[in-house]
Amino acid sequence: MTSTTSKPNDLSANWMPFSGNRFFKANPRMIVKGEGCTFTTSDGKTLVDGLSGLWCCGAGHGRKEITEAVSRQMVDLDYAPGFQVGHPLAFELASRIAALAPGDLDHVFFVNSGSEAADTAIKMARGYWRVKGEAQRTKVIGRAKAYHGVNFGGMSVGGISGNRKMFGAGIDADHLPHTLLAENAFSRGLPDKGIELADELENIVALHDPSTIAAVIIEPFSGSAGVIVPPKGYMQRIREICDKYGFLLIFDEVISGFGRTGQMFGAQTMGVTPDIINAAKAISNGVIPLGAVIASHRIYQTFMDNGGADYAIEFPHGYTYSGHPVACAAGLATLDIFENDDLLGKCRTLIPYFEDAIHALKGLPHVEDIRNFGLAGAVQVTDMPGLPGKRAFEIFQKCWDLGAYVRCGGNTLQFAPAFIAQKSDIDRLFSIVADALKAQA
Ligand SMILES: Cc1ncc(COP(=O)(O)O)c(C=O)c1O
Repeated sequence: MTSTTSKPNDLSANWMPFSGNRFFKANPRMIVKGEGCTFTTSDGKTLVDGLSGLWCCGAGHGRKEITEAVSRQMVDLDYAPGFQVGHPLAFELASRIAALAPGDLDHVFFVNSGSEAADTAIKMARGYWRVKGEAQRTKVIGRAKAYHGVNFGGMSVGGISGNRKMFGAGIDADHLPHTLLAENAFSRGLPDKGIELADELENIVALHDPSTIAAVIIEPFSGSAGVIVPPKGYMQRIREICDKYGFLLIFDEVISGFGRTGQMFGAQTMGVTPDIINAAKAISNGVIPLGAVIASHRIYQTFMDNGGADYAIEFPHGYTYSGHPVACAAGLATLDIFENDDLLGKCRTLIPYFEDAIHALKGLPHVEDIRNFGLAGAVQVTDMPGLPGKRAFEIFQKCWDLGAYVRCGGNTLQFAPAFIAQKSDIDRLFSIVADALKAQA
Protein backbone atom coordinates (compact mmCIF):
# COMPACT_ATOMS: atom_id res chain seq x y z
CA MET A 1 0.00 0.00 0.00
CA THR A 2 1.35 3.44 -0.85
CA SER A 3 1.14 6.05 1.79
CA THR A 4 1.43 9.77 1.37
CA THR A 5 0.88 12.75 3.55
CA SER A 6 0.33 14.93 0.46
CA LYS A 7 -3.12 16.05 -0.53
CA PRO A 8 -4.16 18.05 -3.55
CA ASN A 9 -3.38 21.72 -2.92
CA ASP A 10 -1.35 21.16 0.18
CA LEU A 11 2.22 22.40 0.20
CA SER A 12 4.12 19.37 1.38
CA ALA A 13 4.92 17.53 -1.90
CA ASN A 14 6.87 20.36 -3.53
CA TRP A 15 10.47 20.20 -2.27
CA MET A 16 11.37 23.82 -2.93
CA PRO A 17 14.79 24.85 -4.29
CA PHE A 18 17.11 27.05 -2.20
CA SER A 19 14.31 27.60 0.31
CA GLY A 20 13.67 27.06 3.95
CA ASN A 21 10.92 24.54 3.27
CA ARG A 22 9.76 24.26 6.88
CA PHE A 23 9.43 28.01 7.41
CA PHE A 24 7.79 28.57 4.02
CA LYS A 25 5.22 25.84 4.51
CA ALA A 26 4.28 27.36 7.86
CA ASN A 27 4.30 30.91 6.42
CA PRO A 28 3.70 30.67 2.64
CA ARG A 29 4.62 33.55 0.36
CA MET A 30 2.76 32.83 -2.85
CA ILE A 31 2.84 34.82 -6.10
CA VAL A 32 -0.03 34.41 -8.57
CA LYS A 33 0.49 37.19 -11.13
CA GLY A 34 3.24 39.39 -12.56
CA GLU A 35 2.83 42.62 -14.47
CA GLY A 36 5.44 45.28 -15.26
CA CYS A 37 7.61 45.40 -12.17
CA THR A 38 4.98 44.18 -9.77
CA PHE A 39 3.83 40.85 -8.42
CA THR A 40 0.39 40.04 -7.01
CA THR A 41 0.25 37.64 -4.07
CA SER A 42 -2.34 34.94 -3.46
CA ASP A 43 -3.91 37.14 -0.81
CA GLY A 44 -4.32 40.00 -3.28
CA LYS A 45 -1.41 42.26 -2.26
CA THR A 46 0.65 44.09 -4.91
CA LEU A 47 4.40 43.91 -4.38
CA VAL A 48 7.09 45.90 -6.15
CA ASP A 49 9.44 43.32 -7.66
CA GLY A 50 12.85 44.44 -6.47
CA LEU A 51 14.83 41.64 -8.15
CA SER A 52 13.27 41.19 -11.63
CA GLY A 53 12.12 37.78 -10.40
CA LEU A 54 15.55 36.20 -9.87
CA TRP A 55 17.52 38.77 -11.88
CA CYS A 56 15.78 37.59 -15.08
CA CYS A 57 12.82 39.74 -16.07
CA GLY A 58 14.63 42.89 -17.23
CA ALA A 59 11.86 43.87 -19.63
CA GLY A 60 9.25 43.46 -16.88
CA HIS A 61 6.58 40.81 -16.38
CA GLY A 62 3.73 40.02 -18.74
CA ARG A 63 5.38 41.15 -21.99
CA LYS A 64 2.80 40.32 -24.67
CA GLU A 65 5.45 40.37 -27.41
CA ILE A 66 7.11 37.37 -25.74
CA THR A 67 4.02 35.44 -24.70
CA GLU A 68 2.55 35.81 -28.20
CA ALA A 69 5.79 34.68 -29.87
CA VAL A 70 5.94 31.68 -27.53
CA SER A 71 2.29 30.75 -28.16
CA ARG A 72 2.74 30.98 -31.94
CA GLN A 73 5.86 28.85 -31.78
CA MET A 74 4.14 26.18 -29.73
CA VAL A 75 1.53 25.87 -32.45
CA ASP A 76 3.99 25.86 -35.36
CA LEU A 77 6.77 23.68 -33.95
CA ASP A 78 6.50 22.61 -30.33
CA TYR A 79 9.77 20.68 -30.29
CA ALA A 80 12.56 19.83 -32.67
CA PRO A 81 15.59 17.68 -31.90
CA GLY A 82 18.85 19.54 -31.93
CA PHE A 83 21.25 16.65 -32.50
CA GLN A 84 22.22 16.26 -36.17
CA VAL A 85 19.13 18.27 -37.27
CA GLY A 86 18.11 21.85 -36.69
CA HIS A 87 15.35 24.40 -36.88
CA PRO A 88 15.72 27.98 -38.17
CA LEU A 89 15.12 29.89 -34.93
CA ALA A 90 18.20 28.49 -33.19
CA PHE A 91 20.39 29.73 -36.05
CA GLU A 92 18.69 33.11 -36.17
CA LEU A 93 19.01 33.64 -32.42
CA ALA A 94 22.64 32.49 -32.39
CA SER A 95 23.50 34.96 -35.17
CA ARG A 96 21.80 37.83 -33.38
CA ILE A 97 23.54 37.06 -30.08
CA ALA A 98 26.91 36.67 -31.82
CA ALA A 99 26.44 40.09 -33.44
CA LEU A 100 25.87 41.65 -30.01
CA ALA A 101 28.77 39.92 -28.24
CA PRO A 102 32.13 41.66 -27.82
CA GLY A 103 35.35 40.90 -29.72
CA ASP A 104 35.45 37.71 -31.75
CA LEU A 105 32.92 35.85 -29.59
CA ASP A 106 30.86 34.62 -32.50
CA HIS A 107 29.66 31.08 -31.76
CA VAL A 108 26.73 30.32 -29.48
CA PHE A 109 26.06 26.97 -27.79
CA PHE A 110 22.55 26.82 -26.32
CA VAL A 111 21.77 25.40 -22.89
CA ASN A 112 18.81 25.76 -20.54
CA SER A 113 20.19 27.44 -17.45
CA GLY A 114 23.11 29.21 -15.88
CA SER A 115 24.26 26.01 -14.19
CA GLU A 116 24.34 24.20 -17.51
CA ALA A 117 26.20 27.15 -19.00
CA ALA A 118 28.89 26.85 -16.31
CA ASP A 119 29.42 23.14 -16.87
CA THR A 120 29.31 23.55 -20.65
CA ALA A 121 31.93 26.33 -20.59
CA ILE A 122 34.20 24.27 -18.33
CA LYS A 123 33.89 21.26 -20.64
CA MET A 124 34.52 23.52 -23.64
CA ALA A 125 37.70 24.85 -22.01
CA ARG A 126 38.99 21.40 -21.10
CA GLY A 127 38.06 20.01 -24.52
CA TYR A 128 39.81 22.93 -26.20
CA TRP A 129 43.10 22.10 -24.50
CA ARG A 130 42.70 18.41 -25.16
CA VAL A 131 42.20 18.84 -28.89
CA LYS A 132 45.17 21.20 -28.91
CA GLY A 133 47.30 18.42 -27.43
CA GLU A 134 47.51 19.78 -23.86
CA ALA A 135 45.16 17.36 -22.14
CA GLN A 136 46.85 17.96 -18.79
CA ARG A 137 45.27 21.42 -18.61
CA THR A 138 42.21 20.44 -16.58
CA LYS A 139 42.16 22.77 -13.59
CA VAL A 140 39.71 25.68 -13.55
CA ILE A 141 40.24 28.66 -11.26
CA GLY A 142 37.20 30.32 -9.70
CA ARG A 143 36.88 32.77 -6.82
CA ALA A 144 35.76 32.75 -3.21
CA LYS A 145 32.15 33.93 -2.89
CA ALA A 146 31.50 33.29 -6.60
CA TYR A 147 28.32 31.60 -7.78
CA HIS A 148 28.33 29.55 -10.95
CA GLY A 149 25.23 27.46 -10.35
CA VAL A 150 24.71 24.13 -8.75
CA ASN A 151 25.95 21.46 -11.15
CA PHE A 152 29.21 19.73 -10.33
CA GLY A 153 31.52 21.90 -12.40
CA GLY A 154 29.92 25.19 -11.45
CA MET A 155 29.67 24.20 -7.81
CA SER A 156 33.36 23.25 -7.72
CA VAL A 157 34.59 26.55 -9.14
CA GLY A 158 32.01 28.44 -7.10
CA GLY A 159 33.02 29.86 -3.77
CA ILE A 160 29.93 29.89 -1.59
CA SER A 161 30.77 27.35 1.09
CA GLY A 162 27.16 26.66 2.04
CA ASN A 163 26.51 25.44 -1.51
CA ARG A 164 29.50 23.08 -1.51
CA LYS A 165 30.05 21.47 1.85
CA MET A 166 27.14 19.01 1.59
CA PHE A 167 28.20 17.58 -1.77
CA GLY A 168 31.93 16.89 -1.81
CA ALA A 169 34.50 17.67 -4.46
CA GLY A 170 33.46 17.93 -8.08
CA ILE A 171 36.15 18.91 -10.55
CA ASP A 172 39.75 19.95 -10.07
CA ALA A 173 39.55 23.60 -9.08
CA ASP A 174 41.24 26.30 -7.05
CA HIS A 175 40.03 29.73 -6.01
CA LEU A 176 41.14 33.34 -6.09
CA PRO A 177 40.23 35.42 -3.06
CA HIS A 178 37.04 37.48 -3.24
CA THR A 179 37.26 41.27 -3.51
CA LEU A 180 35.04 42.26 -0.61
CA LEU A 181 37.22 44.66 1.38
CA ALA A 182 36.07 46.58 4.45
CA GLU A 183 37.99 49.67 3.30
CA ASN A 184 35.79 49.81 0.18
CA ALA A 185 32.53 49.90 2.18
CA PHE A 186 29.87 52.20 0.70
CA SER A 187 31.71 52.54 -2.62
CA ARG A 188 29.61 53.55 -5.59
CA GLY A 189 30.29 51.34 -8.60
CA LEU A 190 33.83 49.96 -8.93
CA PRO A 191 35.71 50.45 -5.64
CA ASP A 192 39.17 52.05 -5.55
CA LYS A 193 41.16 49.57 -3.49
CA GLY A 194 42.26 45.99 -4.07
CA ILE A 195 43.56 45.65 -7.64
CA GLU A 196 46.47 43.66 -6.19
CA LEU A 197 44.01 40.86 -5.38
CA ALA A 198 44.15 39.98 -9.08
CA ASP A 199 47.86 39.17 -8.65
CA GLU A 200 46.84 36.26 -6.41
CA LEU A 201 46.37 34.46 -9.71
CA GLU A 202 50.17 34.46 -10.01
CA ASN A 203 50.40 32.65 -6.65
CA ILE A 204 47.92 30.04 -7.85
CA VAL A 205 49.97 29.62 -11.03
CA ALA A 206 53.13 29.17 -8.98
CA LEU A 207 51.42 26.54 -6.85
CA HIS A 208 49.92 24.44 -9.63
CA ASP A 209 52.09 25.26 -12.65
CA PRO A 210 50.43 26.99 -15.62
CA SER A 211 50.53 23.81 -17.70
CA THR A 212 47.76 22.35 -15.49
CA ILE A 213 45.33 25.27 -15.76
CA ALA A 214 42.66 25.39 -18.47
CA ALA A 215 40.66 28.48 -17.57
CA VAL A 216 39.69 31.16 -15.10
CA ILE A 217 35.98 31.71 -14.52
CA ILE A 218 34.74 34.93 -13.02
CA GLU A 219 31.52 36.95 -12.70
CA PRO A 220 31.95 40.60 -13.76
CA PHE A 221 30.34 41.26 -10.38
CA SER A 222 29.33 38.53 -7.94
CA GLY A 223 25.55 38.77 -7.84
CA SER A 224 24.30 35.99 -5.59
CA ALA A 225 26.95 36.65 -2.95
CA GLY A 226 25.60 40.19 -2.60
CA VAL A 227 26.76 42.32 -5.53
CA ILE A 228 30.48 42.15 -4.80
CA VAL A 229 32.08 44.50 -7.29
CA PRO A 230 35.72 44.11 -8.44
CA PRO A 231 38.12 47.00 -7.81
CA LYS A 232 39.08 49.35 -10.62
CA GLY A 233 41.56 47.70 -13.00
CA TYR A 234 41.06 44.21 -11.49
CA MET A 235 39.47 42.59 -14.55
CA GLN A 236 42.10 44.08 -16.86
CA ARG A 237 44.82 42.60 -14.63
CA ILE A 238 43.12 39.18 -14.65
CA ARG A 239 42.94 39.35 -18.45
CA GLU A 240 46.64 40.21 -18.66
CA ILE A 241 47.65 37.27 -16.46
CA CYS A 242 45.40 34.89 -18.43
CA ASP A 243 47.04 36.09 -21.64
CA LYS A 244 50.51 35.64 -20.16
CA TYR A 245 49.88 31.92 -19.53
CA GLY A 246 47.32 31.22 -22.27
CA PHE A 247 44.45 30.51 -19.85
CA LEU A 248 40.97 30.89 -21.27
CA LEU A 249 38.97 33.59 -19.48
CA ILE A 250 35.30 32.76 -18.93
CA PHE A 251 32.94 35.53 -17.84
CA ASP A 252 29.88 34.16 -16.12
CA GLU A 253 27.36 36.78 -17.21
CA VAL A 254 24.24 34.92 -16.13
CA ILE A 255 23.29 38.00 -14.11
CA SER A 256 25.37 40.75 -15.72
CA GLY A 257 24.54 39.73 -19.31
CA PHE A 258 21.61 40.98 -21.34
CA GLY A 259 21.48 44.51 -20.11
CA ARG A 260 21.96 44.58 -16.34
CA THR A 261 25.06 46.83 -16.50
CA GLY A 262 23.62 49.21 -19.11
CA GLN A 263 25.33 47.48 -22.02
CA MET A 264 24.45 44.10 -23.48
CA PHE A 265 27.27 42.41 -21.59
CA GLY A 266 29.21 43.28 -18.47
CA ALA A 267 32.36 42.63 -20.53
CA GLN A 268 31.53 45.72 -22.59
CA THR A 269 30.89 47.82 -19.48
CA MET A 270 34.14 46.59 -17.91
CA GLY A 271 36.10 47.06 -21.15
CA VAL A 272 37.53 43.53 -20.96
CA THR A 273 36.88 40.83 -23.54
CA PRO A 274 36.88 37.24 -22.27
CA ASP A 275 37.16 34.10 -24.42
CA ILE A 276 33.78 32.72 -23.36
CA ILE A 277 30.65 34.43 -22.01
CA ASN A 278 27.95 32.48 -20.17
CA ALA A 279 24.43 33.89 -20.27
CA ALA A 280 20.94 32.86 -19.12
CA LYS A 281 18.14 34.55 -17.15
CA ALA A 282 17.41 37.87 -18.98
CA ILE A 283 18.28 36.29 -22.35
CA SER A 284 14.62 35.18 -22.57
CA ASN A 285 13.32 37.64 -19.98
CA GLY A 286 12.90 34.62 -17.72
CA VAL A 287 9.80 33.48 -19.61
CA ILE A 288 11.16 30.14 -20.83
CA PRO A 289 14.40 28.56 -19.55
CA LEU A 290 17.27 29.42 -21.89
CA GLY A 291 21.00 29.83 -21.55
CA ALA A 292 23.94 30.31 -23.89
CA VAL A 293 27.70 29.83 -23.93
CA ILE A 294 29.22 32.30 -26.36
CA ALA A 295 32.66 31.19 -27.50
CA SER A 296 35.40 32.93 -29.41
CA HIS A 297 36.08 32.20 -33.05
CA ARG A 298 39.42 30.68 -32.03
CA ILE A 299 37.81 28.18 -29.66
CA TYR A 300 35.18 27.07 -32.16
CA GLN A 301 37.73 26.81 -34.97
CA THR A 302 40.08 24.74 -32.82
CA PHE A 303 37.36 22.13 -32.35
CA MET A 304 36.52 22.21 -36.07
CA ASP A 305 40.14 21.94 -37.20
CA ASN A 306 40.77 18.95 -34.93
CA GLY A 307 37.42 17.23 -35.34
CA GLY A 308 38.51 14.37 -37.61
CA ALA A 309 36.20 13.24 -40.41
CA ASP A 310 33.66 15.89 -41.42
CA TYR A 311 30.65 13.84 -40.21
CA ALA A 312 32.25 13.31 -36.79
CA ILE A 313 30.95 15.13 -33.70
CA GLU A 314 33.55 17.74 -32.75
CA PHE A 315 32.22 18.53 -29.23
CA PRO A 316 30.39 15.57 -27.68
CA HIS A 317 28.08 17.63 -25.51
CA GLY A 318 24.51 18.96 -25.63
CA TYR A 319 21.09 18.77 -24.00
CA THR A 320 17.75 17.43 -25.25
CA TYR A 321 16.47 20.98 -24.94
CA SER A 322 19.53 22.85 -26.33
CA GLY A 323 18.07 25.50 -28.63
CA HIS A 324 14.48 24.50 -27.88
CA PRO A 325 12.28 26.24 -30.48
CA VAL A 326 9.95 27.77 -27.89
CA ALA A 327 12.89 29.10 -25.85
CA CYS A 328 14.44 30.52 -29.02
CA ALA A 329 11.14 32.24 -29.85
CA ALA A 330 11.21 33.81 -26.38
CA GLY A 331 14.86 34.85 -26.89
CA LEU A 332 14.19 36.46 -30.26
CA ALA A 333 11.15 38.34 -28.94
CA THR A 334 13.25 39.52 -25.99
CA LEU A 335 15.95 40.86 -28.33
CA ASP A 336 13.22 42.67 -30.31
CA ILE A 337 12.13 44.38 -27.09
CA PHE A 338 15.73 45.38 -26.36
CA GLU A 339 15.82 47.08 -29.76
CA ASN A 340 12.31 48.48 -30.03
CA ASP A 341 12.08 49.80 -26.47
CA ASP A 342 15.72 50.88 -26.10
CA LEU A 343 15.97 48.75 -22.96
CA LEU A 344 19.69 49.45 -22.60
CA GLY A 345 19.05 53.19 -22.76
CA LYS A 346 16.28 52.86 -20.17
CA CYS A 347 18.60 50.90 -17.92
CA ARG A 348 21.40 53.47 -18.27
CA THR A 349 19.00 56.29 -17.42
CA LEU A 350 17.80 54.53 -14.28
CA ILE A 351 21.23 53.48 -12.96
CA PRO A 352 22.22 56.84 -11.34
CA TYR A 353 18.79 57.21 -9.75
CA PHE A 354 18.98 53.65 -8.40
CA GLU A 355 22.51 54.31 -7.10
CA ASP A 356 21.41 57.42 -5.18
CA ALA A 357 18.33 55.65 -3.82
CA ILE A 358 20.19 52.60 -2.49
CA HIS A 359 23.01 54.67 -0.97
CA ALA A 360 20.43 56.85 0.80
CA LEU A 361 19.91 53.86 3.14
CA LYS A 362 23.35 54.51 4.69
CA GLY A 363 23.00 55.29 8.39
CA LEU A 364 19.84 53.23 8.91
CA PRO A 365 19.97 50.58 11.64
CA HIS A 366 22.19 47.56 10.94
CA VAL A 367 23.45 48.77 7.55
CA GLU A 368 27.18 47.98 7.37
CA ASP A 369 27.81 48.28 3.62
CA ILE A 370 26.04 49.26 0.42
CA ARG A 371 27.34 48.22 -3.01
CA ASN A 372 26.04 48.74 -6.53
CA PHE A 373 26.96 48.15 -10.13
CA GLY A 374 24.69 48.77 -13.08
CA LEU A 375 21.11 48.18 -12.07
CA ALA A 376 22.11 45.81 -9.27
CA GLY A 377 22.85 46.53 -5.66
CA ALA A 378 23.08 45.03 -2.20
CA VAL A 379 22.74 46.23 1.36
CA GLN A 380 24.87 44.29 3.84
CA VAL A 381 23.42 44.13 7.35
CA THR A 382 25.00 43.15 10.65
CA ASP A 383 24.31 39.56 11.58
CA MET A 384 22.57 38.71 14.84
CA PRO A 385 25.08 37.08 17.22
CA GLY A 386 25.20 33.34 16.53
CA LEU A 387 22.44 33.48 13.91
CA PRO A 388 24.04 33.99 10.48
CA GLY A 389 21.63 35.28 7.86
CA LYS A 390 18.69 35.67 10.25
CA ARG A 391 18.55 39.45 10.22
CA ALA A 392 18.56 39.64 6.41
CA PHE A 393 15.90 36.93 6.32
CA GLU A 394 13.69 38.83 8.75
CA ILE A 395 14.06 42.03 6.73
CA PHE A 396 13.17 40.12 3.54
CA GLN A 397 10.02 38.82 5.25
CA LYS A 398 9.17 42.29 6.57
CA CYS A 399 9.59 43.79 3.08
CA TRP A 400 7.19 41.16 1.75
CA ASP A 401 4.65 42.09 4.42
CA LEU A 402 5.07 45.80 3.62
CA GLY A 403 4.79 45.37 -0.17
CA ALA A 404 8.20 44.62 -1.71
CA TYR A 405 9.81 41.44 -2.97
CA VAL A 406 13.58 41.51 -2.41
CA ARG A 407 16.17 38.75 -2.08
CA CYS A 408 18.14 37.88 1.01
CA GLY A 409 21.39 35.96 0.68
CA GLY A 410 23.65 35.49 3.71
CA ASN A 411 23.91 38.86 5.42
CA THR A 412 22.78 40.83 2.37
CA LEU A 413 19.60 42.13 0.80
CA GLN A 414 19.85 42.17 -2.98
CA PHE A 415 18.16 44.37 -5.56
CA ALA A 416 17.92 44.29 -9.35
CA PRO A 417 14.80 46.06 -10.59
CA ALA A 418 13.48 45.69 -14.11
CA PHE A 419 15.02 48.02 -16.71
CA ILE A 420 11.52 49.39 -17.36
CA ALA A 421 11.03 50.37 -13.69
CA GLN A 422 9.90 53.94 -13.08
CA LYS A 423 11.57 56.22 -10.55
CA SER A 424 8.42 55.84 -8.46
CA ASP A 425 9.01 52.05 -8.32
CA ILE A 426 12.54 52.62 -7.05
CA ASP A 427 11.22 55.11 -4.46
CA ARG A 428 8.59 52.66 -3.26
CA LEU A 429 11.07 49.78 -3.10
CA PHE A 430 13.63 51.61 -0.99
CA SER A 431 11.10 53.33 1.22
CA ILE A 432 9.78 49.86 2.15
CA VAL A 433 13.33 48.58 2.70
CA ALA A 434 14.01 51.58 4.94
CA ASP A 435 10.87 50.85 6.98
CA ALA A 436 11.82 47.18 7.26
CA LEU A 437 15.34 48.12 8.48
CA LYS A 438 13.90 50.53 11.04
CA ALA A 439 11.47 47.85 12.24
CA GLN A 440 14.50 45.71 13.16
CA ALA A 441 15.92 48.28 15.55
C1 LIG B 1 26.53 34.07 -12.15
C2 LIG B 1 25.59 32.91 -12.12
N1 LIG B 1 25.92 31.77 -12.73
C3 LIG B 1 25.12 30.71 -12.75
C4 LIG B 1 23.89 30.76 -12.14
C5 LIG B 1 23.01 29.55 -12.15
O1 LIG B 1 21.93 29.75 -12.98
P1 LIG B 1 20.67 28.75 -12.93
O2 LIG B 1 19.99 28.97 -11.63
O3 LIG B 1 19.86 29.20 -14.14
O4 LIG B 1 21.20 27.38 -13.10
C6 LIG B 1 23.47 31.93 -11.51
C7 LIG B 1 22.17 32.02 -10.86
O5 LIG B 1 21.85 32.95 -10.17
C8 LIG B 1 24.35 33.03 -11.49
O6 LIG B 1 24.03 34.16 -10.87
